[in-house]
Amino acid sequence: MQMEGKVAVVTGGATGIGEASARKLCELGARVAILDRSAETGQATVAALEKSGYTASYFPCDVSIESQVKAAIAATVARYGGLHVLVSNAGIQRYGDVVTTTPELWDETMAVHVKGCFHATKYAIPAMLACGGGAIVIVASVQSFTAVNNSVAYVAAKHALLGITRAIALDFASRNIRANCVCPGAIDTPMLRATADRTGSPQQMLEGIGRMHALGRIGRPQEVANAIAFLASDEASFITGTSLLVDGGLLVPTGGMGFQESGIGTGGKE
Ligand code: NAI
Repeated sequence: MQMEGKVAVVTGGATGIGEASARKLCELGARVAILDRSAETGQATVAALEKSGYTASYFPCDVSIESQVKAAIAATVARYGGLHVLVSNAGIQRYGDVVTTTPELWDETMAVHVKGCFHATKYAIPAMLACGGGAIVIVASVQSFTAVNNSVAYVAAKHALLGITRAIALDFASRNIRANCVCPGAIDTPMLRATADRTGSPQQMLEGIGRMHALGRIGRPQEVANAIAFLASDEASFITGTSLLVDGGLLVPTGGMGFQESGIGTGGKE
């Protein structure tokens, strides 16, 4: 894999999976623009990348606001002369079932995940077309296929991202733009830590979640970034419109790991 000469935009690139993706793309030779609504962490991440000798910039941007996305992508193209890769990653975690979720919370979740992806792809694609094509990687989730309780807006948003991926892949294939998504399991980021903190015993919760993955642990942001970089690279030149689980086998066991450990398949004998 190499990204020499490529320009990449990573939304939500200040922390977590986005930050790891920005670093990976830089390592492969790309110049990277981080679009994030958090100026402090965005600038700190860019400073750390520059300290490592990479070329990166921070552009303030709330992906749910069209004018900000448009301006940040235009600023990226003006600074680096084009755009070849988009990682649409910005996201928030919100909780509630369909009864307890307020319309405001529903709209907020959809605005960041779904409209944010719509905005980012809407303005990135014309810039990519001007460069002869490009690659889009959308960060979805295992919750694009399954549901976690009390998370209806998040689950619905992540399901929608599969549809956006497929629609873009179809609409722009003939113009040399590929679109794919990665679907992570539980990954050790500030988002997951915030969720764990809600339980009162975060370490216990993280270990418990780890055991639900066939590999017996939660994932590292870099492990998702590696998959993102692959799909964004020319090594994935015949891959479009698909999704790649990066979930440590979370979705493999029928009925979850607890069901497996109950003795099914061995009749209780090891
Ligand atoms: P994180 O909370 O560590 O990082 C998210 C980044 O997005 C932050 O830098 C934040 O400032 C930025 N952001 C949030 N709302 C924004 C907005 N409106 N405009 C611009 N930037 C915004 O989260 P994490 O875990 O790195 O998540 C990244 C993506 O991966 C999200 O889409 C999330 O849903 C998805 N994901 C995460 C999983 C996990 O276990 N951590 C599992 C599956 C999917």
